[in-house]
Amino acid sequence: MPTKKMTDKEWFHQHLSDRSTKLIPYKSATPKKFNSSTVAWSTLLLLFVTTSISFAQTTVTIPVETEKNAMVLQTDHEGRLGVIYFGSKLANTTEYAGIPSQYNLKSDNAPTYNSCYTPAGTWNLIEPAVQITHADGNMSLDLKYVSSETKKIDANVNLTSVLLKDPLYANEVTLYYKTYYKENVVEQWSVIKNGEKKAIHMQKYASANLYLMGNDFYLTHYNGTWGNEMKPEEDHLSHGIKSIDSKLGTRANLLEPSAFMVSFDKPATEDEGKVLLGQLAWSGNFKLDFEVDNYNNLRVIAGINPYASEYQLAAGQEFTTPGFIYTFSNNGKGEASRNLHHWATKYRLLDGEGSRLTLLNNWEATYFDFDENKLVGLFKGAKKLGVDMFLLDDGWFANKYPRNGDTAGLGDWQENKKKLPHGIGYLVKEATAAGVKFGIWVEPEMVSPKSELYEKHKDWVIREIDRPEKYYRHQLVLDLSNPTVQNFVYGVLDTLFTKNPTLAFIKWDCNAVIYNAHSAYLQKAGLPQSQLYVDYVKGLYKVLDRLRAKYPTVPMMLCSGGGGRVDYGALQFFTEYWPSDNTDPVERIFMQWEYSYFYPAIASCNHITDWSKLPLKFRTDVAMMGKMGYDIVVDKLNEKDLQFSQQAVTNYRSISDLVWHGDLYRLVNPNKNPIASLMFSNTDKSRAIVFNYLVNTRFMPSATPLPVQLKGLDAAKKYTVKEINVYPGTSSSIQPSTVYSGNFLMTVGINPDVHLGRASVLLEVNEVK
Ligand code: GLA
Repeated sequence: MPTKKMTDKEWFHQHLSDRSTKLIPYKSATPKKFNSSTVAWSTLLLLFVTTSISFAQTTVTIPVETEKNAMVLQTDHEGRLGVIYFGSKLANTTEYAGIPSQYNLKSDNAPTYNSCYTPAGTWNLIEPAVQITHADGNMSLDLKYVSSETKKIDANVNLTSVLLKDPLYANEVTLYYKTYYKENVVEQWSVIKNGEKKAIHMQKYASANLYLMGNDFYLTHYNGTWGNEMKPEEDHLSHGIKSIDSKLGTRANLLEPSAFMVSFDKPATEDEGKVLLGQLAWSGNFKLDFEVDNYNNLRVIAGINPYASEYQLAAGQEFTTPGFIYTFSNNGKGEASRNLHHWATKYRLLDGEGSRLTLLNNWEATYFDFDENKLVGLFKGAKKLGVDMFLLDDGWFANKYPRNGDTAGLGDWQENKKKLPHGIGYLVKEATAAGVKFGIWVEPEMVSPKSELYEKHKDWVIREIDRPEKYYRHQLVLDLSNPTVQNFVYGVLDTLFTKNPTLAFIKWDCNAVIYNAHSAYLQKAGLPQSQLYVDYVKGLYKVLDRLRAKYPTVPMMLCSGGGGRVDYGALQFFTEYWPSDNTDPVERIFMQWEYSYFYPAIASCNHITDWSKLPLKFRTDVAMMGKMGYDIVVDKLNEKDLQFSQQAVTNYRSISDLVWHGDLYRLVNPNKNPIASLMFSNTDKSRAIVFNYLVNTRFMPSATPLPVQLKGLDAAKKYTVKEINVYPGTSSSIQPSTVYSGNFLMTVGINPDVHLGRASVLLEVNEVK
């Protein structure tokens, strides 16, 4: 039963006085520039003059601002809250209140497409952001504005919260907007609270519902699969709904990542056009709906995928949705992506402002075929190369069903006695003696049907008891909705760290999707099976949270059979991610290019492997535009390759600060040109590194046809350009003593002279003082 029955009018009346006192809670993100009370009172004044008193008293304007952008929310004549503006910030912020809201039609059939959180079951007949069934079985929901406030978290970060309530049922939704002022990034989420006396059921519970004004929208989204991640597609959005989603349970990034771009009016380029970059910070099923409405505006609804995910909320309980992260730029994709990089390194990625370890991994060098002695030999190779660490990959564990291939052993996390008779401790000791740190691979969320864990704890496994099992890479997923399983997964890592306190790195893998989504735990607990997809991710985050509480700084790589799991939900616990198992350098140029719109280079693990037969220099140069690592047998390198690699590790050290903490500028797009060029420059524009790669071997011009115009330099400064990472025995065609102005380099440019004989060219740009 409804807790309180009121007509809309009564509800309004009751909240009117309340609202007029709560009209000015907004505190500006930048107090000097903007006074919220001015907006609130001027809204009142303006509307007092132009409309009736009751309308004036019910209109509240809430700007959500960053340094350059604003989204403005405003109540309509029925107390519903809509988005009336999204885009560049106005110089005079008091003028927001005067933005005409053509969507707030005062007729009974007002469509209010611009709702900032569209409820289902009452006035709304389009795609909802929130849909619930009340305790009494009623399926209607209305949300009216009650109050809002903005708290200053620090000089740069504000948190605006807006409380909406159902006039009939005791349910409320609080919308949160966390603004990162300088980075122009907003993280938005909602909290749904059940104030009823019994449980309610939520069918849809989105994180955000944006409303973008324009006439034409272009959506860039991605598709992929194993070894073929991040393939971009750009569509002109027509009327109706275009949805991007994942139903894989784990590995949300595998087929269609949640990262996307929306260009306004025409496809944005690197430096021009209005563009929104966004993604859901959630490592499980998600859904993004892009709906062009009858005003030609775009509604974006982003959240957990409602598919098979009805969620029960007990009396008094709250549900916090994952964050939807977005940034907007008036100056193209380049600026928008730098916004995300600045935000991620400062606020999201673990140790984003720190440094990273270069490493030698044994996966492609040995696969499962290794033993203690072979590994100790590889440590020496790591040292010879000059990298910081050796990373031991899959295959080191399980005894009853040894992990000698990918068909057995997952879940039995004891050292394999045959391969490693002296255990991990011995390897850590030997690595230390060889002068390198030691890291290890785990895949703790998974289980092989051929394992002792499976034999002992079938009830810990996600499976339909009476149906045949379906495997992905011969394995199944553990039920992380179960707290006992969470303890087990935490224990795998905790035991490794406790036994080996100097363990320096973890590669956390996740190779299977969830088939037969059924949880013995939820069944026993009397909870709906439809909570499994959500509770899985919550369980995973609980484990990672606990791990980070005890081991806050150990670097961890987020891996998922390549790039099957890359998102800002997981990356708060990880220092880096593995973009793809495909390490062919040409393929990687394209993938790394696309990932770079959303993630900073410091997080991208780029390894040099023998996957491709392209020259070692080319493979190395491609790896250097992120976090460099190796996956080779050093002893098999010929003399020149070894000499080159040793020099490359040293060169990488000298430029890593630019790659990890500089600003990324994309110069020549490989999707449209025979070469790819991009550069990183430091904050004071005194240094930069420019990467140039040949990507087209079919049509091979004799040299780069035109100079490449640089960006991110100071026009007034003078620079020299020197080629680095030159292969032994070859010479550079770039004249290092020529002095150029920044103006020249950015207007005329410099020809890196890329051709078949020089397929990759790294240029270091230094200010001449
Ligand atoms: C996944 C990872 C690889 C490697 C293997 C080990 O495929 O992406 O890098 O770790 O697992 O089985």
